[in-house]
Amino acid sequence: MTNSPEHSFLSPSLSQLRRYCTKVFALLLLPLLLQAVSIPAPGAGEDRAIYLVHVEGDGPVAFEPEHAEKFSNRSGSSVSLAKNLVDLHDELLQSSLAEGTYQKLYSFNHIFNGFAVHTTPSQAGRLAAAPGVKLLERDRQAKLMTTYTPAFLGLPGVWAEGGGEKTAGEGVVIGIIDTGINPAHPSFANDPENPFRPDWRPQFDGACEMSSLAGALCNGKIVSARHFSAGAAAVFPLNASRELSPVDEVGHGTHVASVAAGNWGVPVVVGGFKYGTASGMAPRARIAVYKAIYPEGGTTADVISAIDQAAQDGVHILILSIGPDEPPEGIPSLLSAFEISLLFARRAGIFVVQAGGNKGPSESTTISVSPWTVGAAAGTTDRKFQATIKLDDGIILQGVGLTGPSYKDGFPFKPLVAAKDAIAKQRGSQISPAYADECQHPEALEPAVVQGTIVICNFSVGFFNGSSTVTSTLNTAKVLGFAGFILVANPILGDFVAEPLPFTIPGIMIPKVSDVQILLDYYEKTTYRDPERTVTRYGGRASIGEGRIASFDEGAPVVARFSSRGPDVVDRQMNAVDVLKPDILAPGSQIWAAWSPISALEPILRGEDFALLSGTSMAAPHIAGIAALIKQFKPTWDPSEIASAISTTASGYDGNGIPIMSQGSDPQSLYPSTPFDRGAGLVNPSRALNPGLVFPSGFKDYISFLCSSPSVDREMVKSTTNRACGSPESSPADLNLPSITIASLRGLQMVRRRVKNMGDVPETYLSSVRQPRGVRVYLKPSLFTIQPQGTQDIQIELKVTEALEGFSFGEIVLVGSLDHIVRLPMSIFPVAVI
Ligand SMILES: *[C@@H]1O[C@H](CO)[C@@H](O)[C@H](O)[C@H]1NC(C)=O
Ligand SMILES: *[C@@H]1O[C@H](CO)[C@@H](O)[C@H](O)[C@H]1NC(C)=O
Ligand SMILES: *[C@@H]1O[C@H](CO)[C@@H](O)[C@H](O)[C@H]1NC(C)=O
Ligand SMILES: *[C@@H]1O[C@H](CO)[C@@H](O)[C@H](O)[C@H]1NC(C)=O
Repeated sequence: MTNSPEHSFLSPSLSQLRRYCTKVFALLLLPLLLQAVSIPAPGAGEDRAIYLVHVEGDGPVAFEPEHAEKFSNRSGSSVSLAKNLVDLHDELLQSSLAEGTYQKLYSFNHIFNGFAVHTTPSQAGRLAAAPGVKLLERDRQAKLMTTYTPAFLGLPGVWAEGGGEKTAGEGVVIGIIDTGINPAHPSFANDPENPFRPDWRPQFDGACEMSSLAGALCNGKIVSARHFSAGAAAVFPLNASRELSPVDEVGHGTHVASVAAGNWGVPVVVGGFKYGTASGMAPRARIAVYKAIYPEGGTTADVISAIDQAAQDGVHILILSIGPDEPPEGIPSLLSAFEISLLFARRAGIFVVQAGGNKGPSESTTISVSPWTVGAAAGTTDRKFQATIKLDDGIILQGVGLTGPSYKDGFPFKPLVAAKDAIAKQRGSQISPAYADECQHPEALEPAVVQGTIVICNFSVGFFNGSSTVTSTLNTAKVLGFAGFILVANPILGDFVAEPLPFTIPGIMIPKVSDVQILLDYYEKTTYRDPERTVTRYGGRASIGEGRIASFDEGAPVVARFSSRGPDVVDRQMNAVDVLKPDILAPGSQIWAAWSPISALEPILRGEDFALLSGTSMAAPHIAGIAALIKQFKPTWDPSEIASAISTTASGYDGNGIPIMSQGSDPQSLYPSTPFDRGAGLVNPSRALNPGLVFPSGFKDYISFLCSSPSVDREMVKSTTNRACGSPESSPADLNLPSITIASLRGLQMVRRRVKNMGDVPETYLSSVRQPRGVRVYLKPSLFTIQPQGTQDIQIELKVTEALEGFSFGEIVLVGSLDHIVRLPMSIFPVAVI
């Protein structure tokens, strides 16, 4: 296999989005317009940085045993232990560093023992050598990067089992570490007819910060709202004059929360147009908000502090639609403070779901790396919003934009004018023609020429360098009274990628150069010019169609182009580990959900209450909401059992019954997906509630996995987890995951699995294997009967028959006598026959 070390970094063009790119944590939402542009590295010569320090000894919140239903006893003794740790961290800093040379940002005193400090590299060096300090890691400066889906996923049937949408998710708390929440949104309103009862309260300790602008943030639906900003305040110049609170200034956290747990049946109205109604996956689940990302950016320190608090509060499910953008330095990412905090969150019984990342379709780009989290890949749904433009010679071109039609007043076709031909005659204007053809400035165009016409605007240099925006194009169209606009790709700069934006004026983006060529050929053929090339008559006619009404096709899902791919590499040397990533596919393309009208992210969406967005950020909350439903119906299942149930019941087929396809760099070119594109397949909520068998694993198993992984240093496992490695008797592939991944198979290897029967009657299972190329796989036993709650060990022998240049893929299928079907994807790299 050849790893591609260069990440195809897709950066946004809009200046508002650009700011996110140089920050530490990425929002895993697809930029609304994007193309390949290189982004300058973050400012060099910066003196102080944030360091994350692991200290010897455990955190005080010892969540043993590892079962999800057991909540910690937050008694006085654990609180005083936490207090002792804070004192210990302060003493450690005082005794090793000079006063005034550092600022402690956080003590992580719940799930692991450590702290975050803002200081200089030389002071950090002294700290690393101090007694009691196990490991020190620099906070990662990194480049960034109508919910119709309940019906697509068959959720109404699942909800019906528990009494319908009014109770779906009842009693489950979903924690969201993101940009905060818009508490006033109807998706989070308490239902006066069905108020939330406080009887789950003893299980959950939240806290509700106040906002002088938004008032009380908690209302029964939102049960906790906090913000974490010490890291961001130390690294970015946070705007000091604004109130820091859990209120969402971006919109992203609000979107994620409403996909997971937004109320049922909320009307989606944007720009006065009704798009239908929205609902979260678990519309009755409660929401706990942990804001750690700001319009200026975010830091690992704030995110870890939020994870620490969420574990302490006792959330059941935790969503991270954010992530560090590259592996840490000098340490495998599995052992980074971020991943270790997630390991301890899992140990505390929390089901953690992460966005897989938006760096596809290049391989080895997934940013969800650990077997103790579930990484979500993003797929399309069968609903599409397609804008079209019709030329009066009958040609119809497809484009992008949530647009109304241009034919309101009975005349279907309007004259077609290219902005470059309608540049205002010199009146001392400073606007260069290159800028003017992008329709950024009304004064740069001749009003009499463009009024009442459909104007062709250039998606050119200004959009690529961040100085032009679609908002300005819309403004120009409004001021000059365009009948509509067409934003076309510049053939010199190539295709761009656009997500449907709500246009207040009829408009369409044509991002494909080949389509633009057809339009421009027609335009030139119908436009008459004098010998100076000045236009004498505009003879072309066009009509923009209704783009706000969805169409449906069966060929879904398809793995989205941007969704990050496996294999799972865990260090800068691109070593792959024996873990399948991404884990699962969920809808993550063109998802309608709640928004924050004060959004600083995208001016076009400012003032709106809903946004149609794409990204693995949108896929993760689908999985979280479905996990909340499983948690509601099966409260005793632990996170690994829920994850297993979701994976082994996933579907590898699309709506047409053919294997799920995957988009390549060109979204139109499809290839058959592998587990590295889609994990186990598309989540199937109703089957996940009744999986038959599961593959449970726990904290000790993850430690054995770390200790046996060749790319992980055993001493470092001790430093980061405070657990010593035993004698190396297992292999990393023996971790009891609902998949088998071997990054390097030489000759023969025996792999162990243990299944548990989640049903209440005995069942007999028969195994079959879809053999990966180059490998022979045998199961022992191949037929077994398993008692309710009983377990069965399975030996899986894998033997190389032919060495290959890359991974090959297969599947183990266990079919039960009561019709349960349990699927395990296999991803094996047969390196050598002996
Ligand atoms: C919690 O701990 C306290 C003191 O350690 C003990 O008295 C109490 O019974 C415990 N509560 C539960 C629910 O286990
Ligand atoms: C800082 O926040 C205040 C209050 O929200 C706002 O008026 C101001 O424009 C902000 N300044 C910057 C530079 O963003
Ligand atoms: C867009 O700009 C390029 C120059 O970069 C120019 O060649 C092309 O004709 C322009 N297209 C339109 C439609 O204005
Ligand atoms: C971006 O491109 C436009 C149009 O070519 C140009 O006028 C402007 O100066 C450029 N701005 C930057 C910041 O490079």
